[in-house]
Amino acid sequence: LRTVGKSLFVCPPHHPAGSLELCPAVLFFCRPRCSGIPYVPQPRDKSVSARSVISFYNQSAIDVAAEKPSVRLTPTTILYAGKSPDNSHILRSAQYLYKELPVRVAHRIRDFRHLPFIVGCNPTILHVHELYIRSFHLLSEFPPVEDFESEEKYTKLVKDLLDDHKDVVTLLAEGFRESRKHIKEYKVIQDFLDRMLTSRLGIRMLAQHHIALHQEKPNYVGIVCTQMSLKKIIEKWADFSRQVCEYKYGFAPRVRVLGHVGVVFPYIPLPLDYILPELLKNAMRATCEQHADNPVNMPDVTVTIANNDVDFIIRISDKGGGMPREILEKVMQYHFTTCGSEMDPASENLDGLGTMMSAMNDGPNGAGPMYGFGFGLPTSRAYAEYLGGSLTYNTMQGIGTDVYLRLRHIDGNYESFRI
Ligand code: ADP
Ligand code: COI
Repeated sequence: LRTVGKSLFVCPPHHPAGSLELCPAVLFFCRPRCSGIPYVPQPRDKSVSARSVISFYNQSAIDVAAEKPSVRLTPTTILYAGKSPDNSHILRSAQYLYKELPVRVAHRIRDFRHLPFIVGCNPTILHVHELYIRSFHLLSEFPPVEDFESEEKYTKLVKDLLDDHKDVVTLLAEGFRESRKHIKEYKVIQDFLDRMLTSRLGIRMLAQHHIALHQEKPNYVGIVCTQMSLKKIIEKWADFSRQVCEYKYGFAPRVRVLGHVGVVFPYIPLPLDYILPELLKNAMRATCEQHADNPVNMPDVTVTIANNDVDFIIRISDKGGGMPREILEKVMQYHFTTCGSEMDPASENLDGLGTMMSAMNDGPNGAGPMYGFGFGLPTSRAYAEYLGGSLTYNTMQGIGTDVYLRLRHIDGNYESFRI
């Protein structure tokens, strides 16, 4: 038993001696000696009951769940799952989550265990790893959801877990920033973060869909908006980004929305709520910095919508001077940023990081700084690819940049993506 930082690590009883598996206890003190000696776990803090702490370290349940495949649904399935007057659709949705969430969370834990040894030792990364272990046990030890009473309690648990995990992206960004000097192969981290962030997006979409099924909102079935107007959602995020931009620079470019501005179709706005502000803020930052000497005549940011049967494309064009050749290869890398020293992620000041990532997590209600974390483009690209689409850009150094977000319709003739 040993305390590292705020966490208490206990050797799991079944752990094979000399295993290289990423287990906090094994990492820190008993890798050579661990031989399955039973232990008495201690509560991590007073709010955690002794019983849940015992199960907290029950790794074999995680191993079993991690072997199961996840059951991924198409947006059409969740859209047409149907509303029943007796609310049985809510019970069915909870029962699906009840089976599915532990499996998905176990997959995340398996990925933490496969991280390079030295990276997995980072206290911030270990903390997130531990958060997932805790959630796994809370979810998998919940009694079966059989009636509306247990459904209500289960939904409360899911809401609490969404809240407990709201800073996961911030923490991961911080943890990998701290440990990046030990990382020889960037691809390992990129693959981990791509999988982690997209799988987390899926988990959070499913959880929020279930919660939203309890609310009646016009044109919505859970998180699916049956009549989403791209123009409106772009305008909402343009206003948000302009506010952040004005706060930072004292001025902000206007945003013009052109193309198929009248299109309305069913879609899930949630991922757009993550991606659009990131792209718009980048375009505005470039414009403000390029035209700082003449803010009154700053060129607009132009957003063009193109819609067809299969997919829709959003192009965000700025005249912010483009990107220099030497950064072209790097802009899609996690942690790459050209932000100045005031919010340099290499510095120890992480206040902004938390704010920004919380803003991303909080969606429209959050306000964050303009830039500085180097997560905007890689995260947006990972989300776009998860949604069956792509995020690409063309840049003309000295003139400006066009970023293309292409996403598949969820009601088209082709399968779009699975959540
Ligand atoms: P951040 O905004 O935190 O720096 P991003 O991943 O969103 O992180 O962007 C990474 C870098 O890519 C930025 O720091 C900037 O140098 C460059 N970049 C992104 N979008 C643009 C753009 N529209 N024009 C010029 N440079 C851009
Ligand atoms: C996350 O947001 O990171 C989650 O995985 C949430 C889930 C445990 C409900």
